[in-house]
Amino acid sequence: MCGIVGYLGSREAYPILIKGLHRLEYRGYDSAGIALINSKLDLSVYKTKGKVEDLENYVADKDVEGTIGIAHTRWATHGEPNSQNAHPHYSQSGRLALIHNGIIENYKVLKEELISKGYTFSSDTDTEVLIQLIEYMQMSHNTSIYEAVQLALKNVIGAYAIAIIDKSNPNQLIAARKGSPLIIGVGDKEFLIGSDATPIVEYTNKVIYLEEEEIAVMKRNGEISITNLSNVPQTPIIKTLELNLSQLEKANFPHFMLKEIFEQPEALRTSMLGRLNMESKTVRLSGIIDHRDKFLKAKRIIICACGTSWHAGLIGKYIIEELTRIPVEVEYSSEFRYRNPVITKDDIVIAISQSGETADTLAAIKLAKDNGAFVYGICNVVGSSIARASDTGSYLHVGPEIGVASTNAFTAQVTTLTLIAMNIAEEKKTISKERIAELVEELQQIPEKINQTLQMNMRIKLYAQIFTYARNFIYLGRGFNYPVALEGALKLKEISYIHAEGYPAAEMKHGPIALIDEEMPVVVIAPKRGMYEKVLSNIQEVKARKGKIISIVTKGDTAVKELSDFCLEIPDTEECFVPILSVVPLQLLSYHIAIAKGRNVDQPRNLAKSVTVE
Ligand code: G6P
Repeated sequence: MCGIVGYLGSREAYPILIKGLHRLEYRGYDSAGIALINSKLDLSVYKTKGKVEDLENYVADKDVEGTIGIAHTRWATHGEPNSQNAHPHYSQSGRLALIHNGIIENYKVLKEELISKGYTFSSDTDTEVLIQLIEYMQMSHNTSIYEAVQLALKNVIGAYAIAIIDKSNPNQLIAARKGSPLIIGVGDKEFLIGSDATPIVEYTNKVIYLEEEEIAVMKRNGEISITNLSNVPQTPIIKTLELNLSQLEKANFPHFMLKEIFEQPEALRTSMLGRLNMESKTVRLSGIIDHRDKFLKAKRIIICACGTSWHAGLIGKYIIEELTRIPVEVEYSSEFRYRNPVITKDDIVIAISQSGETADTLAAIKLAKDNGAFVYGICNVVGSSIARASDTGSYLHVGPEIGVASTNAFTAQVTTLTLIAMNIAEEKKTISKERIAELVEELQQIPEKINQTLQMNMRIKLYAQIFTYARNFIYLGRGFNYPVALEGALKLKEISYIHAEGYPAAEMKHGPIALIDEEMPVVVIAPKRGMYEKVLSNIQEVKARKGKIISIVTKGDTAVKELSDFCLEIPDTEECFVPILSVVPLQLLSYHIAIAKGRNVDQPRNLAKSVTVE
């Protein structure tokens, strides 16, 4: 969702804040703004519709001097994306400025109360209500800004990560969070804050992860105090960041998405590091070994996730059931959290989230824990809310994923779920040692096989030019490759804005077949392993209706190739590992179609990388 960044120290704040906004732009990019207090104690707020670049152009001739400031990149929830609704927002007196990520659910009631007390509003946002409320609390209780923040937040229902500056005290930066992430970077007599660590890493690797309902007061002399909403002091715990700057750059790639697609072999190697033992041909995940009994006793596994992570979860279901015989259900977190699901203490809930901040998945975890289930988190972002809320788990270790459309996190999620399935199977002895050894051997080959798959990049680019005309796409797959069809369709929708549907290939005849004509591109995932013959018949059905077939086949295939208009070959592998390879050409196809259509692939319209609102 929105990205927030703040600075207090002895350096000029503006360049640090702008750079931080660029790093956070993946979180939202419909408008951006910045507030600075200069040495004359003027508080200036500059904001504009559009991207961070537009903000930079807008402030080019403005005074941006000052060593304290806050900045924001927005993903609209309340009020359209325009400069009035962009953050920061001023308080009525113009003395305070605030940035906010999250949603104040009771903002209407609060706004009406404030209006009845004479407050006026210049935006449609819930955020402006919060800063006015803080000022109102300060005036009416004749108290410090810190106490006013505490009082105001006690009246708020919803989620927030906020930062506030006060022109009557330019030596102090206040931040608070509930539901939305907030990290504080601790430098030498300087503080940075960020929605994630990316704006901070350049300046310090010492960070504090602010916890739920905590308020931090940072001072120019380097002091920091943290209390909770009930005014109980909390000891700040400083952690060391595991992130380096080079991971945040595009290297020689034109877009983060392409870089991340090409990084997959290396990312998966890192993901498997220390988990695949090539000597004993076994798998070891500490999250499973340390809680062996839970997995041995588990009657059921429930996977909760959203978006691409949900697709990874579906593949996980196929693999876990196949190898461990434990029944698996896959739930959209947003449905699970509100539908009074049956959860028991013998259930294991696997929560999958790249960002580790998805609000619905976080709420699903809470529900699961309240009902006694054991929660295993699969996250990419180290120290994220979901990672911390889980009982145990595994990190993906693919490095920061910046492109909004998830690619390398997806293949790492599938790989991690595969490792989980193999490790449980070993412990439960549901498959033989010899079979595990075969799978271990093959899994280790997967990064190299992705490398081979990536060699088709230029060919896929050519195919992509042909399909820019298409208004619709159908993706078909069966078994392990049915979720890949869903993921391929989602990737195309997300970045090219072409409507696409993924279907289990056999379901096509129950509806989607009516859509097929000579203009309809149909992507069919038809590897040799699995239900090859069945998929072949489904392809015949498409062909008979003159659909344009783009097939993903195993190297050396002839039958599907002959029926296809366009064919892409992936190396042969175990049936349960095929999705990790078959998704790669689909990622590239979406990327190149989107580029050919002139789309902004790293920041597609209306989307955000980290969805911290429900
Ligand atoms: C957003 C992103 C998707 C992502 C989904 C779940 O919609 O744009 O790419 O799959 O959130 O995010 P998570 O961080 O929980 O995996």
